[in-house]
Amino acid sequence: MEESAHPAPRISIRQVSKIFGRHPSRALQQLREGRGKAEVQRDTGVVVGVYDVSFDILPGEIFVIMGLSGSGKSTLLRLINRLHDPTRGSILVDGEHVTTMGARALRQLRRSKFGMVFQSFALLPHRTVLGNVEFGLEIQGERKARRVERAMQVIETVGLAGCEGSYVSQLSGGMRQRVGLARALAADPEILLMDEAFSALDPLIRGQLQDDLLEIQEKLGKTIVFVSHDLDEAIKIGSRIAIVRDGRLVQVGTPREILASPVDDYVSAFVEGADRTKVLTAEQIMQPLRVSAHPKDSPRALLRKMERSGFGGLVVVDNARRVQGYVDLAQASAQRDRDVLDRATWRAQPTAGTDAKLADLIQRMHAEGSPLAILDARERVVGVVDKNTLLAALAQGDTHGPPHEPAPAGDGAAPAAAPGAPAQGEPAQGEPARGAEPAVVTESLPARAGIIEGRQP
Ligand SMILES: Nc1ncnc2c1ncn2[C@@H]1O[C@H](COP(=O)(O)OP(=O)(O)OP(=O)(O)O)[C@@H](O)[C@H]1O
Ligand SMILES: [Mg+2]
Repeated sequence: MEESAHPAPRISIRQVSKIFGRHPSRALQQLREGRGKAEVQRDTGVVVGVYDVSFDILPGEIFVIMGLSGSGKSTLLRLINRLHDPTRGSILVDGEHVTTMGARALRQLRRSKFGMVFQSFALLPHRTVLGNVEFGLEIQGERKARRVERAMQVIETVGLAGCEGSYVSQLSGGMRQRVGLARALAADPEILLMDEAFSALDPLIRGQLQDDLLEIQEKLGKTIVFVSHDLDEAIKIGSRIAIVRDGRLVQVGTPREILASPVDDYVSAFVEGADRTKVLTAEQIMQPLRVSAHPKDSPRALLRKMERSGFGGLVVVDNARRVQGYVDLAQASAQRDRDVLDRATWRAQPTAGTDAKLADLIQRMHAEGSPLAILDARERVVGVVDKNTLLAALAQGDTHGPPHEPAPAGDGAAPAAAPGAPAQGEPAQGEPARGAEPAVVTESLPARAGIIEGRQP
C-alpha cells in the first residue's frame, strides 16, 4: 500500500511560502538564514504562515497535515486551492499550475476538483439536510431534479439516509459534520480538503466518522488532504502524515515511518502519545516459525518434537504451508500407539493476517486464549505471535528490524520465565530447515491463558 511505485502526483507543492504582512522579502531572507518564526515576526512585523514547504500528494491518498496550533496547517491547506496566494513557490494540481491561474480558470478548478469540509459546519440552519447538500450544486446551476438525485445519493453515502428532511438545527454535531461532508461530496470533487473536520466531535462520534471516511475513501477513491492536530487520528486515517512546525515542514512519512523514526524532538513529542497498537502489524512483530506438526506425523514423532521444543502443542502445517489445526500434548500422548494422529482430535488454530494491527491481535489472543498463526495474503503461514511477542512489541515499540530474539522456552516444567516463548533454534530431527517448510510454534505447556492479564505495567 505505502511503498508502491509512485504514480504522478495529484498535488505538488514546490518551495511554497506564505508570509502574512507587507514587504515579505526581509522576512524571507531571515528565514533562509535559519531564523525562527517568532524572531522574524519580532524583527520584521510579518507573520510567517508557511515557509519553504515542498511535498507531493498522490492520487487516492489520505494525506494528513499535523502540527501544533499556529504551525501553519490551515494556511497550507488553503494554499492548495489558492484560498491563500503563496508569497513564493508554486502549486500544481494534476500538473496544472494553480499559482499562475487566472480568476476564471481558478473558479472552474475549485468547482470541478475541490471539495472543502471545515470544523465549523458552515451549514444553512434554515434549510433541510437535503437543502444544504444540494446547495453547492444549486450555485453551479444544476437542474433541480438532477440536484436532488445527486444529493440523495451522497446523503446515503455519508449514512444520513432518512434524515434528508430534517433541519440542521435538529441534528447532532456528528450528523452535522456528515451533512458538511455530503455537501462537499455532492459535486463529486476529486480532492477533498478537510480542516479539523472532526475535531469538535466527541471521541466516539469522531471515531465513527473516521471509519466512515475510510470507507467512503475506499469506495470513491478521492484524494483527501486532512488537517488534524491529533496523532491518533492521523495514524488511523493517514496514508502519509506531514508534520509542520512554525511554518516549516519537519517530516513527511507513513504513520509507521514517523512512529519508528521521528526526526526531532518536536515529532517525538507527538509520537510519544501515540497508540502503537494501532500502527504495528503482525508482520512487524511476529516471530519466525520454528517447529510445527505435519499432518502425517505419528503421535510419537509429535511427542518428540514437543519434548525437544518444550511446547505443549504444535500447529499442524501441510506442505503448502497452510494451517490445518493444532495438536496438543494430551492428544498426542493418548494416541501414542497409532500411526497417525486422528484428525478429529485436532483443534482449531486461530490465525491472523500479516497486516492485522497489534490492537486486533491483542483482542484476538484474549478471545482465543492461545497464540496466533500469522498468514500471508495467500493464506500461508509465515509466523507466529504469542503473548511474549506482544509484550516485547509493546515494551520496545521498535518497528524496525527483526523482532526480539525469542527467549528460551525451558522444558515446560520451568514455565515462569517465559511462558509461551518459542524454543531456541535447534530444529527437531527430521524437521525441515527454516524457510523450506516453516514451522509454527505455539504455547509451551504451562501457560495458556492470561495473555492480556499477563501484560506488565
Ligand atoms: N489571514 C491571516 N492573516 C495573518 N496571519 C495569519 C492569517 N492566517 C493565519 N495567520 C497566521 O499564520 C500562522 C499559521 O496559521 P494557521 O491558521 O495556518 O495555523 P494552524 O496550524 O491551522 O493552527 P490551528 O491548529 O490553531 O488551526 C499563525 O501564526 C497565524 O496567526
Ligand atoms: Mg487551523
